[in-house]
Amino acid sequence: MGPAATGAGSDALTARDLYRFYRSGEEETLALRGVSLRVRRGETVAVTGPSGSGKSTLLACLAGLDEPDGGVVHVGAERVSHRSEADRARLRARRIGVLLQSGNLLAHLDLRANIRLAHSAAGGRAPRGPGAGELLEQVGLPSRGAALPRELAGGELARAGLAVALANSPDVLLADEPTGELDGTTELRILELLRERAHAGTAVLLVTHSTEVVSVADRVLTLRDGRIRP
Ligand SMILES: Nc1ncnc2c1ncn2[C@@H]1O[C@H](COP(=O)(O)OP(=O)(O)OP(=O)(O)O)[C@@H](O)[C@H]1O
Ligand SMILES: [Mg+2]
Repeated sequence: MGPAATGAGSDALTARDLYRFYRSGEEETLALRGVSLRVRRGETVAVTGPSGSGKSTLLACLAGLDEPDGGVVHVGAERVSHRSEADRARLRARRIGVLLQSGNLLAHLDLRANIRLAHSAAGGRAPRGPGAGELLEQVGLPSRGAALPRELAGGELARAGLAVALANSPDVLLADEPTGELDGTTELRILELLRERAHAGTAVLLVTHSTEVVSVADRVLTLRDGRIRP
């Protein structure tokens, strides 16, 4: 598919002026202070910044897992923020793949069942993306479909989580440290997979500390104290 067919270059993800405050007792943390960004179809954007700078908070707001206190998030023309939790979950299942730092697998389901659950959450008669076997192959776990998450090593868990995030060929892929626990060879393989998805038209946003990841990104955004550093 050429750019015209995939719509490469159009905005897949936009965030305008996001604010997020956390209150615990007297303490108030300003985790996000006016973050705006856009990621186009086919584009890979890396988000870096020191620990506590707001990267995971930003990702959760972009994914509709959390509600910003101010600002708005869109995927294509659909608003993600300021909607009911059920609406956000439906939208996420269809259009957004998310890989969190804490993992995104259900502990009591094997890998194949975790992927099938993602397929069925998106609705529709046939999966919107590749089948479970193909996804597991792509992330380098072809023979682990029957394994439970607790039977996997850290790097394998990260790759299984990525298979779930990619299950419905999302328009937007959001990943928090997708290669954090991986050795160099596996990291390169996963990066290649993410690049392939981007070339097929997915907008990819990756939170990372890895220089390898930063080097494959089209753009890098650096967060500091809840703001994008100019
Ligand atoms: N649920 C919460 N309640 C209170 N404060 C929170 C909560 N989640 C995050 N914070 C605070 O918000 C700020 C941003 O946290 P966030 O997790 O987004 O940072 P991060 O950039 O992802 O860090 P890391 O690189 O360590 O993952 C931090 O000061 C953190 O302590
Ligand atoms: Mg984080």
